[in-house]
Amino acid sequence: MQNDNEINESCNQLSELASYCFRHQQTLQQADAELERRVEERTRELLTKNEALQAEIVEYQRQQAQLQHKEQFLRTVYNGCEHLIFVVDVEEDGDFRFTGWSLATERATRLSSTEVIGKTPEDVLGAVGGAAVRQRYVSCLESGKPITYEECLTFQGEETWSLTTINPLKDSEGRIYRLVGTTVHITERIQAETQLKQQTQDLEKALNELQQTQMQLVQSEKMSSLGQLVAGVAHEINNPVNFIYGNLTHANDYIQDLIRFVKLYQQLYPHPIPQLEELAAEIDLEFVIQDLPKLLNSMKIGAQRIREIVLSLRNFSRMDEADMKEVDIHQGIDSTLMILEHRIKGRPDYPAIQVIKEYGNLPLVECYAGQLNQVFMNILVNAIDAIEESFVILASKKSQITSNQGQMTSPQIRIRTQLLEPNQVMISIADNGLGIPKEVKQRLFDPFFSTKPIGKGTGMGLSISYQIISQKHGGKLECISQLGSGAEFAITIPLSQN
Ligand SMILES: Nc1ncnc2c1ncn2[C@@H]1O[C@H](COP(=O)(O)OP(=O)(O)OP(=O)(O)O)[C@@H](O)[C@H]1O
Ligand SMILES: [Mg+2]
Repeated sequence: MQNDNEINESCNQLSELASYCFRHQQTLQQADAELERRVEERTRELLTKNEALQAEIVEYQRQQAQLQHKEQFLRTVYNGCEHLIFVVDVEEDGDFRFTGWSLATERATRLSSTEVIGKTPEDVLGAVGGAAVRQRYVSCLESGKPITYEECLTFQGEETWSLTTINPLKDSEGRIYRLVGTTVHITERIQAETQLKQQTQDLEKALNELQQTQMQLVQSEKMSSLGQLVAGVAHEINNPVNFIYGNLTHANDYIQDLIRFVKLYQQLYPHPIPQLEELAAEIDLEFVIQDLPKLLNSMKIGAQRIREIVLSLRNFSRMDEADMKEVDIHQGIDSTLMILEHRIKGRPDYPAIQVIKEYGNLPLVECYAGQLNQVFMNILVNAIDAIEESFVILASKKSQITSNQGQMTSPQIRIRTQLLEPNQVMISIADNGLGIPKEVKQRLFDPFFSTKPIGKGTGMGLSISYQIISQKHGGKLECISQLGSGAEFAITIPLSQN
């Protein structure tokens, strides 16, 4: 009985197991079906993606081919171009390093790209050249625009002139990361320009020299004929004046003797015969006796003055002294003033000019005396001209003299001489005329420059003076003047010319 029950129990359990298995088989079948559907769907998706990827790969390959083509084209241009091309990378820290150096650049600079790539401008061009080039790159960076400039660079000891343009390349953020330079050689053009400039300069120099020679010829002709005339006149006057001056002493002695004789006669014969008394009254014997010595004295002063003038004339012309000699500068100035006395002492329409001499203690100066006197003459004549120009005589009041600005002025020429350390003398001639305007001052020493009316000024006085001082004496001639406050000309020359 118990066995039957156990069998029944087992049968029940088996039947339950069978139905469980059946149920699970169904579920498994459903799951399998779902899985298959999903796999199919995924496979479709993958196929589509695969197709898209393949299309992309084809497109990428096409673009790569195109890029290669472009790169090839650019490289041909880069290396085939006869102009020099170079590329410089701008590093994060602002330093520059070459990253491209075309074949033409290699040929022109005789530096291979392997020697240059990765190097800084200083590494390639040396400290000085490199710094100059770096400066250009910096200004291109700062401006952010292409720049073009001419430069002279030295590669392997050879100077080359080039016209360079630098183009900045910017990244997507606008930062300049690279500079591309192109350079054209312009050495030949520069050489031609330099040659042309030199030729022009040579021509200008030749023209200048010609003008100066002409000017010197005219001036020296003028001065030599003036000098000859002055020397001739001085020589002619010299003899008769000496004759008069020399005899004046004797004449004076004789006259003193005669007067003594007459006085003694009058003493011894206080009452001469009437005929003699009449004659004495007629000729005013007492006055003659009194006046004669005075008269002789003034004749002596006059003759003395003529002798001084003659001496000055001879001094001024110094025809016999073509060589350097040690001379007394003050004597030269004084004799020049003497010659100009007729213009200094005043005329009916012009007041006398006061000449103030402030002569220093000067030793003898080694110079061409005649030429130096010529300089004094030119400067003094200009000063007198300037003073006369600045005065206007008011027609109503003949005595009142005013400057052009209507101020009362007393005409003055101040001559100062001074010994300058260590071995120089300075002669300054200043007038209180109208002064010199800036535009005239700039051209003062130019040959043929004159503001005076035609026929009055040749415009050579100062230019010849400048030459005499600077070239013949190694000195300086300077003008210190402002419009309205007179003019001063300062001559500085060495004491000796060794
Ligand atoms: N002391 C001065 N004051 C004002 N201007 C002056 C003076 N000296 C020279 N100048 C100016 O400089 C110019 C040039 O002087 P420069 O002596 O060379 O020629 P010039 O006097 O005109 O002619 P010249 O050949 O007869 O001397 C003058 O025309 C005058 O304008
Ligand atoms: Mg002059």
